[in-house]
Amino acid sequence: MKPLTIGQHTVPYPLIQGGMGVRVSAAGLAGAVAKCGGIGLIATAGLALNSDHYSGRNFFEADLLALKDELRKAYAIAPDGVIGTNCMVAVTNYDDVVRASCEGGAKLIVSGAGLPLNLPALTADYPDVALVPIVSSVKAAELIARKWHKAYKRLPDAVVVEDPDTAGGHLGEKIENIGSGDYDQYETVRGVKAYFRDEWQHDLPVIAAGGIWDRVDLEYALEQGADGVQMASRFVCTEECDADPAFKQAYLDCRQEDIGLIMSPAGLPGRAIKGNIEQIRAHDIDGEIRCPSGCLKKCAYKAGQERFCIVHALDRAQKGDRDSGLIFCGSNAWKSERIVTVADIFQELFGPA
Ligand SMILES: Cc1cc2nc3c(=O)[nH]c(=O)nc-3n(C[C@H](O)[C@H](O)[C@H](O)COP(=O)(O)O)c2cc1C
Repeated sequence: MKPLTIGQHTVPYPLIQGGMGVRVSAAGLAGAVAKCGGIGLIATAGLALNSDHYSGRNFFEADLLALKDELRKAYAIAPDGVIGTNCMVAVTNYDDVVRASCEGGAKLIVSGAGLPLNLPALTADYPDVALVPIVSSVKAAELIARKWHKAYKRLPDAVVVEDPDTAGGHLGEKIENIGSGDYDQYETVRGVKAYFRDEWQHDLPVIAAGGIWDRVDLEYALEQGADGVQMASRFVCTEECDADPAFKQAYLDCRQEDIGLIMSPAGLPGRAIKGNIEQIRAHDIDGEIRCPSGCLKKCAYKAGQERFCIVHALDRAQKGDRDSGLIFCGSNAWKSERIVTVADIFQELFGPA
């Protein structure tokens, strides 16, 4: 298996650990993955909650301080590792979070949940920081490439192609199209690769994300034209994952039929362990909508059209509240069998067959 080079950064194994917001992938998991020879990502969404910096009123300030803390802690685990951040375009403080990632030493920024059209402008002072958009279609990759080239004379250093039919968390496809059978993950991977090669003579790594669980899936992804994989759900049931043990237990307990789609107040569908949406709503509503921070640019809760706050629902889950917390997961999360270490997973994926 070949090493993976993204921009200036090379790791021995072609694996990115997918960002999982609200502290499911913070320093502990990202540092462990980087130490094992993959790319570790700290998800920046909702870091303020659960941080010592948060007073209840300074969400945006606390978010950036908490992000820099996590980067410091991750580098303490893997001083020479490749550690980056996952930044969601949909958050209100996207520009600040990207800048803080660079200041805190992130080596790459993986960015989705919207098109990261201004990402190169935000990182202009940090040319070694690799830029990696997440897309679910060739068309989205084209839009990003044209805008970046025209405005900034820059192209992505890699692209993650995320499969809406299998990935966890917020998904970049209309809910009615998900699961229709029309989407072909590896056709999209090959299409993105061909687009950059033919249009820009740019041979960039294309990373497949969504539903990749074991060595068979990994080898299949590489055979089908991906240069690497991004895996998230597989890393939840590890000792190093930053979520509460009860969050991990929910993965261990869930059955395939428990996993499905919800409509997030962020205006995007999301894949999660279903079944408790009314409890989630009941927890947040007591007659009045009180958006605590305005953390999302567009949010149906903020606008008074939905009865739960997505960030707090995810945060409650991360802290172990399985009744009124929302547990995001990929379609294969039911395959989790026990808590292992990140090194065990690397051994299974990349060790002697
Ligand atoms: C619990 C959870 C939280 C996630 N949070 C984010 C996030 O904050 N930002 C993001 O871009 N993707 C997020 N994702 C998507 C993952 O980074 C990844 O691309 C996807 O889940 C890959 O599919 P897999 O989980 O089947 O490996 C999340 C996924 C999960 C399971």
